[in-house]
Amino acid sequence: MPKTSVVSKAIAAAFVVLTVSVIGGIITMIILYKTEISTMNPTPRPTRPVSTTVLPPVMRLPKNLIPLSYKVFLMPQLYTRIIEKVNVTSPNQTMDFLGNSTVSFQCVERTSTIYLKSMNLAVSNGKVKNENTNKMIEVSAMKTHRDDTNFLEIQLREALEEGGNYSLFLTFKGEISENLDGMYVSTYVEGVPEFLVATQLEPADARKVFPCFDEPDMKAEFHVTIIHRRDTIALGNAEISGSNIVDDEWKYTSFHPTPKMSTYLFAFTVSEFTATPSTHERVQINTYARPEATAAGHAQYAASITGKILSFYENYFGIDYTQKKLDQIALPDLAAAAMENWGLVTYYEGSLLYEEGVSSVLNKEQIATTIAHELAHQWFGNLVTMKWWNDVWLNEGFATYMSLFAVDNVEPTFQLVTFEMDALASSHPLSPPQEEVQKTSSIIQMFNSITYCKGAAVLRMLADIVGERVFIEGVKVSNYFKPHLVDMVAHWLVARFMEPWTKQIGYPVITINTTNGEVNQKHFLFNDSAESRHVKIGYMWNLVRVSTGSTALINIFKGPILFKKDEFLSKNGEWILANINCTGYYRVNYNPENWDRLLTQLEIDPHRFPPMNRGQLIDNAFFMARAKLVEVTLALNSTRFLRKELDFLPWQLTVRNLEYFVVMFDRSEVYGPMQAYLREQVKGLYNSLRNYTDKSTIPKDHSSQHSQMLAIEVACSNELPECLEMATKMFADWMNSNNTNPIHPNLRSVIYCQAVAAGGKKEWDFAWARYQSSSDTSEKEQLRVALSCTKKTWLLNRYLEYTLDPDKIRLMDVDSTISDIAWNPAGHALAWNFIRAHWDYVSQQDGDMLINAVTSRFSTQFELDELERFKAEYDLGPAANEVYQAIEQTHVNIQWVRENKDAILEWFERETAE
Ligand code: BES
Ligand code: ZN
Repeated sequence: MPKTSVVSKAIAAAFVVLTVSVIGGIITMIILYKTEISTMNPTPRPTRPVSTTVLPPVMRLPKNLIPLSYKVFLMPQLYTRIIEKVNVTSPNQTMDFLGNSTVSFQCVERTSTIYLKSMNLAVSNGKVKNENTNKMIEVSAMKTHRDDTNFLEIQLREALEEGGNYSLFLTFKGEISENLDGMYVSTYVEGVPEFLVATQLEPADARKVFPCFDEPDMKAEFHVTIIHRRDTIALGNAEISGSNIVDDEWKYTSFHPTPKMSTYLFAFTVSEFTATPSTHERVQINTYARPEATAAGHAQYAASITGKILSFYENYFGIDYTQKKLDQIALPDLAAAAMENWGLVTYYEGSLLYEEGVSSVLNKEQIATTIAHELAHQWFGNLVTMKWWNDVWLNEGFATYMSLFAVDNVEPTFQLVTFEMDALASSHPLSPPQEEVQKTSSIIQMFNSITYCKGAAVLRMLADIVGERVFIEGVKVSNYFKPHLVDMVAHWLVARFMEPWTKQIGYPVITINTTNGEVNQKHFLFNDSAESRHVKIGYMWNLVRVSTGSTALINIFKGPILFKKDEFLSKNGEWILANINCTGYYRVNYNPENWDRLLTQLEIDPHRFPPMNRGQLIDNAFFMARAKLVEVTLALNSTRFLRKELDFLPWQLTVRNLEYFVVMFDRSEVYGPMQAYLREQVKGLYNSLRNYTDKSTIPKDHSSQHSQMLAIEVACSNELPECLEMATKMFADWMNSNNTNPIHPNLRSVIYCQAVAAGGKKEWDFAWARYQSSSDTSEKEQLRVALSCTKKTWLLNRYLEYTLDPDKIRLMDVDSTISDIAWNPAGHALAWNFIRAHWDYVSQQDGDMLINAVTSRFSTQFELDELERFKAEYDLGPAANEVYQAIEQTHVNIQWVRENKDAILEWFERETAE
């Protein structure tokens, strides 16, 4: 008996206004962007000064000067090759760079001080000119603030007048960084050691390359010339306007002006790389890589989809890509996986290069997703930019959300799905107040899973509410936005609707009681009493419910909560399932009777529910159990049906949820029965896919390929004998073969890890030798991870020591290598001791996963005390937040183990008794 929609009249009215206005050209993101964001249309400039502040600025640049354009000359002196001397620090290599810049700006408020941002630069020669009169203005003092502000303060003899146009000329000198920031050096070996120069400026490192108004809303055009060694090529944001030999040693390359853009998007590279072109009707697309990689065709997959993705977005957004060219470059070193610099997207090699027969299905998906993400930024982020970093979720959330559509368009068989929800209270709202995001370290911390995952999920929910078509329309017409009354109303409504999702920490749990029809919501927290103090804003999340019309599948949507009781009253003992396909960013809990019925239905016929919801039920059950809203045994009961489950998502979510059980118990007596249970559960899945373990018989569809990889991981790590035997044999076949690797690329990471775990020194040394000799980035990465899987403590210890030697483990891999070792129960304690002993070295990178990994098993008072001592005695730097989170998590763990261990042990023992 289909249920009818009971959207209240008030809400229905709101929907009408919303929908009409949305079709007329507004939708939330545009509204959000338009109200909070500077757009491609220059912000109207105040004609009169609003105030005449004389106090020096605190962290942010004063807005009395508005940059218009920069002319930048940069001369990195690095050689890409040193034939005689191979060492980067040898006297022949030079890491200096020189530069000069002229920034033109408008003065909108009288001042006799110019503030710019500059860091690690020796700046001199300041000259200020009144562009209206051509008169020079004398500089009386120039000072670089050696504090968090990075201000370059320039005092003038006379004031700049409101409304006047001026320019500032500066020369500067700096050093090419070896830490992957600012203008940095990247190295690789192709016969001989080679060097290249690249940039990574997001969020706040443009100031390390040239003095500038280094804030995202202070957009300007950039006219760039690079002076570089004769035998190299330079790439920049825009297309080349001229290039010529200067003398025996030098060459210059000039670029057309960039679009008006933020400083963090500035980029250039100097290298000997070669290009693979893509086809696109208007834009010249080239994908650059090491000459050997290009020659071997490793950039071909990326090149083949890039044009298609760009065209897809052009259609989708209804706005052409703004520039005439788009370069992508695969760098041997990059601090991020990829960076969306306008017109010159940089990628870490492994995120862009694909090698047929070597890369796995996972690599391919990641490459497509990464390109799609960075290209989405060419609109969301580059063309339209958040005003300040507190709203970087708009950049990252949109790019993450949009990338799924683009990948679906170019690779329809991938069928990517996401399901991510966090719950710790020491997280932050999507959009915290600006005041809380001022220092560079706080800005960097904004690039986290909340920003990416919650950002994307909240947008997905919004798209689901207004309808995909309307959402797309809204995106398309974004540039025609003209405020009028209807829009204002809709704006107000949408802003009101979105606010609880963007300004509050976390998300709600909806509790449905099917015996009395009651429904309520509250902030979902693992630990209500301890965490609720973090919740500053007391309002509720907007939710509206609309039934889908099918029997008991119910979707809860947005709006003030208004339920008719009997809508959720179960008649005739039927179950009710909410949040179909998980489009809502909330969790659902039920009364025990309804949970029971849902789980029974799962065991009888799981296909009654969409795969997303089968996964969601497991995920919700485990999260509810962790939050003590249901018994932990209910969560375990939710995994019983897996014996028959062949779909990837429910298994993936199970593995992810049991990860917590694994880290809490893999050093305890619970682990044996738990492994026995999982061995039984996974047998069906493993056997359904085991015939495929031969190289030629990998399942066709992507989802089964993922299931196969997961099945082997679950089966082997729970010691299913046939799995261990298979993994050991496959690896041995490789060791005994002459260089050709017989293992299918999909299965390499799991087989490598399981074989190294099951093996000893021989397997480890073989993997290490291959790691050192392999020039393939994805293979190297898989081996680097696999090396951490050994159960031999002495091998793990030696491996930890290797991370201190950059010739063995590159600096950028130090964090993740130590983290991988820490995730291994045999390496956990070793890694924790190791990072404390070598904190100065290991904390050079941002270290966020590191703290999480080394503290993941902490669940005793003793471990908590150690962590507190670590916090007190070490200079944590940007890792401070991670340490606070770890302390909070340890409290949760201690209590959880105390309360659940006995019941869990008993449950697993009972399940495996027969
Ligand atoms: N804009 C980011 C790169 C970035 C991240 C710069 C953090 C500065 C600080 C880029 O668009 C990005 O999101 N990269 C992701 C990969 C992407 C596929 C999600 C990354 O590097 O992890
Ligand atoms: Zn991004």
